[in-house]
This record gives sequence, structure tokens and C-alpha cells, in this order.
Amino acid sequence: MSRKNFKRGTNLFVASTYMKKEIFSNVEPDLVIFNSNELVSMNTRYGAPRTGENMSELAIIKDGAIAIKDDLIIFIGPTDELMSKYEFGKIPTKVDATNKLVTPGFVDPHTHIIFDGTRENELSMKLEGKTYLEILKAGGGILRTVRKTREATLEKLVENGKKILDRMMSYGTTTLEAKSGYGLTTESEIKQLKAIQILNEVHPLDLIPTFLGAHAIPPEYNDKPDKYIDLIISEMIPKIAEEGLAEFCDVFCEKGIFSIKQTRKILKTAIRYGLKPQIHIDEIVDTNGALLASEIRAIQTGHLLKSNNEGLKAMAEAGVIATLLPGTPFCLMLDDYAPARKMIDLGIPIALATDLNPNCWTESMQMIITLACYHMKLSTAEALTAATINSACAIQKQNEIGSLEIGKRADLIVFDIPNHNFLPYHYGVNLVSKVIKNGKILVDYDLST
Ligand code: NIG
Ligand code: FE
Repeated sequence: MSRKNFKRGTNLFVASTYMKKEIFSNVEPDLVIFNSNELVSMNTRYGAPRTGENMSELAIIKDGAIAIKDDLIIFIGPTDELMSKYEFGKIPTKVDATNKLVTPGFVDPHTHIIFDGTRENELSMKLEGKTYLEILKAGGGILRTVRKTREATLEKLVENGKKILDRMMSYGTTTLEAKSGYGLTTESEIKQLKAIQILNEVHPLDLIPTFLGAHAIPPEYNDKPDKYIDLIISEMIPKIAEEGLAEFCDVFCEKGIFSIKQTRKILKTAIRYGLKPQIHIDEIVDTNGALLASEIRAIQTGHLLKSNNEGLKAMAEAGVIATLLPGTPFCLMLDDYAPARKMIDLGIPIALATDLNPNCWTESMQMIITLACYHMKLSTAEALTAATINSACAIQKQNEIGSLEIGKRADLIVFDIPNHNFLPYHYGVNLVSKVIKNGKILVDYDLST
């Protein structure tokens, strides 16, 4: 089965658990992990995405084991069952996970990893009290990155992206969504999406591409913003859809950036061209973004710091996923974070993402889990659910990744900690022991095993 081609494996991924067990019953593993103190399987028994109380159920297997053939999981259960099922001595690679935690690989469903130029100078402006929109109005922020990204070659963008992906992988991310949005011309948006396509081919991590031409009004359209919307609708979306360069279309819907009306127009066009809708909403001001998200049945929405109750209720009813990005208020030094507890009470499915971009730069989903627990009061179990199975749902890949189940991709993390509560507790350092992506050990900090 081709590793990068999810489609070819689809029949297997949606087969019943019984069928999968049958299919793999006589297959010998080439890699096993055993003796895990806590193996978080995060199974999809409740259907996906998870909401409310089901966000807390991790389906933990004590003294857990997992067997892998090629890029797929062929067994998961207690270690003694693994030992009686296979001839242990004959298994080529064995990982002893005594005192360790095993979880599904992190899925990061909202990132802006393709850019050139850094913005560390803006940190001092933020420390002096300048706001995000003030920095943007002064020609900094997104627009500064746009200038540098337009000038960069495709090769440079791939090189920058590769560095970020390597670091993401070392912190346990195994699949991510990646957006364009720093080109804002047809040509340079396509250049960014091509960089994502190349990285998906050459790098072990899987990338899901999103077109974000509506990230800012480019300076050359300042006095005629509607002309830029026309360009997105009549040229960018058709071209990008035709070339198969994106799966999703996103819009930065915010006061002074793209209005509700403009966002609706762009996303309706995107849907007609087969792109799935998602939106940045209500980050700085409540513009009724949550209501729009439910109206157009967005798959996921980002930020939601200011969303009103009516909009949140509508999102819960429509099953729109709230992808919370606590790294952003942290980097903007805000007191407010998204109201995660209220959202969970309302039954909104929550995912977590880094939002990696030149304003908010972390590759670490471990850091995001820490922020989610300390600032949004998620429990560790809820945060882990949000960073795995629910974030897989946010990019619609829950049939292949996000949980450890027979027939799913062998994307997982071995942590050098005894249980999941250590993830936010022992914070600010990399707790990874090994990262396994598509059945291969690609990160190994524990060379003694
Ligand atoms: O999600 N809010 C819009 N876009 C990004 C920030 C991009 C940037 O500042 O470069 C975000 O936070
Ligand atoms: Fe973002």
C-alpha cells in the first residue's frame, strides 16, 4: 500500500474491526512495542470526533503492546497476549516500553509552515504593548512575511519547511495541515502550495494542503479590496482546484481583514470547486464567525476567542470542530484564551493545533497541550484527545490516523514518562523517547534499547 496515497487504502481503513482482525490474523509483525506502562489507544468506539465526556476516555491498555507490519497496526492489546500470539524471538525489531507512555502520533491540524523571513523584532513591539492589528497596519505582521515569501524561491521555501517538519517530528507530530497565505498573488500562492506538495513527497510526515489566499488584503489592492476577492474567486480557486494543489480552503475572517460577507462568498466558491471549508474566526473581535461556520458547515474553525453563545450553539449542532490555538494568545500576551470548558459543555468537538507561523512559532504539540491545560483548563485526557483523534477529524483523516487500532497507520509516540498526566506536568522539555511514522522508527532518543 502506498504510504502517501490514502485513497488506495480507503477500503481497508473503513473495514469493520472484525474484518481487520481476520485480515491480519496470520500476518507476522516486523516491529513490536511491548510492556508499555500506559498505552493510550484512543479507539473510535464512540465515533469521531469526540465531544463532552467522551473527550476524557483514552481507552488505556495497561502493560500494553502493539504489533506493526509495514506501515499498519496489526495487533494491539496487553503484552501477555502479544507474547502468546507471535513467536517473540523471530520479530526483527522489538521496543521495550517499560515505564513508558505510548500514544497515537500528534496530528497538528492548523499550521502556516511555509514562509520566508522571521519576525523576532515584533516581539519587542508586543512587549511595548503594540497589538497584532497595530503591527499589521504598520506594514509588519503578515504583510512583512508576504514581502519575504514573494521574493523567496520555491527551493528556499522547501528548505525552510523541511527544517520545521524535522523539528515537528522530533516532538511527536506525525501528520499536519499546512496553509498557503503569504503569497497573495496567484503565482506565489501556487508556489507555496507546490512547496507543501514537494515536502509531502520528500518528507516522512504527511501534509494536508490548505489554500489561504484570503489571509490579508495585499497592499496593491488596499484601495480596491473587492477586486482581490474577485481574483481569489475567479482565478486562484479554479486554478488551484484544477491542479489538485489543496484539499481545504481557509479565510482569515476578522474585523478589518475579511468580512463575513466576503468570507461566505469565497468559501461558497471553494465548495463548488471541491475544496473543503474552514475558517479563522472571532480571534480579536466577535464578527459572528461561529454562526457563519455552522451555516456553511465548515469542517473546522480556528481561534474562537470571542465567539458568542448563539454561534457556539449553532456550531455544536452542526458538528463544526473548534480547533483551539492557545499558542496565539500566549505569543500575543493576551489574558483571554478560547472558552474551552464552555465549548465542551455545549458539545462542541475540540481539536488542538500549534498555529505555527512567524508570529507564534512552536513546533511542539507538547507545548500546546501544556498551554491548553494551564490556560484553558482542559484535563490532560481531553487535551490528548484534542491533539490526536479530534485533530485527525479536523482534517478528515480519522479513518487512517489519530488512534491506535488494527488496520490504522502505525503513527505513534513512545514517551519517556510513565503516564499521560506527565505531558503537561513535566513541561517545556521534549519528553519523546521514540517517534514511529508509518511503521518506521524515525526519531530515537533512547539508544540504549
Ligand atoms: O492564525 N490570524 C491569522 N493568521 C495567523 C497569523 C499569521 C501571521 O501573523 O503571520 C494565525 O494566527
Ligand atoms: Fe492560523
